[in-house]
Amino acid sequence: MRESKLKPSGSATLTYENKKYDFPVYSGTEGPNVIDIRKLYGEVDVFTYDPGFTSTASCESDITFIDGDKGILLYRGYSIDQLAEHSSFLEVCYLLLHGNLPNKKEMADFDRAITMHTMVHDQLSAFYRGFRRDAHPMAIMCGVVGALSSFYHDSTDINDPRQREIASHRLIAKMPTIAAMAYKYSVGQPFVYPLNSLGYTENFMRMTFSVPAEEYKINPILAKALDTIFILHADHEQNASTSTVRLAGSSGANPFACIAAGIACLWGPAHGGANEAALKMLEEIGTVDRIPEFIKRAKDPNDNFRLMGFGHRVYKNYDPRAKAMQVQCHNVLKEVGHENDELLKVAMELERIALQDDYFVSKKLYPNIDFYSGITLRALGFPVSMFTALFALARTVGWIAQWKEMIEDPHQKIGRPRQIYTGAAQRDYIPISKR
Ligand code: ACO
Repeated sequence: MRESKLKPSGSATLTYENKKYDFPVYSGTEGPNVIDIRKLYGEVDVFTYDPGFTSTASCESDITFIDGDKGILLYRGYSIDQLAEHSSFLEVCYLLLHGNLPNKKEMADFDRAITMHTMVHDQLSAFYRGFRRDAHPMAIMCGVVGALSSFYHDSTDINDPRQREIASHRLIAKMPTIAAMAYKYSVGQPFVYPLNSLGYTENFMRMTFSVPAEEYKINPILAKALDTIFILHADHEQNASTSTVRLAGSSGANPFACIAAGIACLWGPAHGGANEAALKMLEEIGTVDRIPEFIKRAKDPNDNFRLMGFGHRVYKNYDPRAKAMQVQCHNVLKEVGHENDELLKVAMELERIALQDDYFVSKKLYPNIDFYSGITLRALGFPVSMFTALFALARTVGWIAQWKEMIEDPHQKIGRPRQIYTGAAQRDYIPISKR
């Protein structure tokens, strides 16, 4: 069980209807303090009103920290820049799940545990065939990941730590296989089985891009770029899909069902679908000379056009993930011989202009991770329909680490937000003949 690390650091006083009420204030390691209002309803008989949870801490967490003003993202205390440069996705998975970087033996054991779970139950292939031939990979992923609980029922007892661990390993290991199969099914190619002599990301690339008729050679530069993209997307504290996983899990639902709920939430264009929108916008702009026209539109209050890939609810500075993504974007385009790609030129010039423009500077609108990820993923060979599926693959470890942390938290309760009701007051039923 997890011990609470909240440090009492004072109190806050609320004055309501001429009475004063004190509430404890706690500090974490970093970030704003929190006012503990758990007793607010019981003592004051009011709720707080916070649609979109912009000022609400829903849990205590040791996993990820974001300082949106400074543009800092830490996984378990390590900066995303250092992890992107020096670590691997599998090592980051261990870090997120266990809290510390592994030593050599721990890493070897973890690698083996994950690798031994890469295959999926063979009847799962039959399950795929129930989807329409042109099904979107995310539609398939929602269904198939939810169905895992019926194939792996022996790891759905959330009160058994060993079953929780096995389910975590299964989800991390099988997600690349499931995503690659969703892609293969959508393009009408045969499924490719995992090859356990390959690393996590290389295996995924082979299952996605190889066909039985030809030999497939892994390009290490492209594999490193994709591995880095997975690191950048691995966790992002209490975002919409992670909060969805926690809320689903708070009722005691099994982890496969919870991750399927997270995938459904991620699918939305305001969350996982933004890189596709950024790529479409760059294609629409097309050439550098058309940028001023689009900048003008983005600034026009009467035009609802926005520069996609700019701005973020939390980051009011350069998204630290965007910097690492830009490096990988250059590496990939150079490697595939597209360094003169017109879209890259448009992106770089757009970024240069926007970073100097008063409108964007004063509103603190900086490039976010999605600005360069669409161009990079396209150059890696992924169709746009796979972009969100790749995000889901990478975010699975974050979801599962957050789910596990919640289950191990003794203060965990079923999530149950309140509301302010503004509908009709109580009234009497009138028979239809009299209406
Ligand atoms: N282009 C032009 N103006 C913008 C943009 C943009 N991309 N983003 C925000 N603004 C303006 C708004 O019009 C608003 O102006 P106002 O104060 O004059 O009304 C102001 O900046 C604040 O915008 P909000 O929408 O209130 O800010 P919020 O924090 O709620 O929104 C969001 C963040 C949704 C990401 C927004 O910046 C946006 O729509 N960006 C484009 C979409 C995008 O790139 N999304 C990816 C996010 S990253 C991720 O999900 C992994």
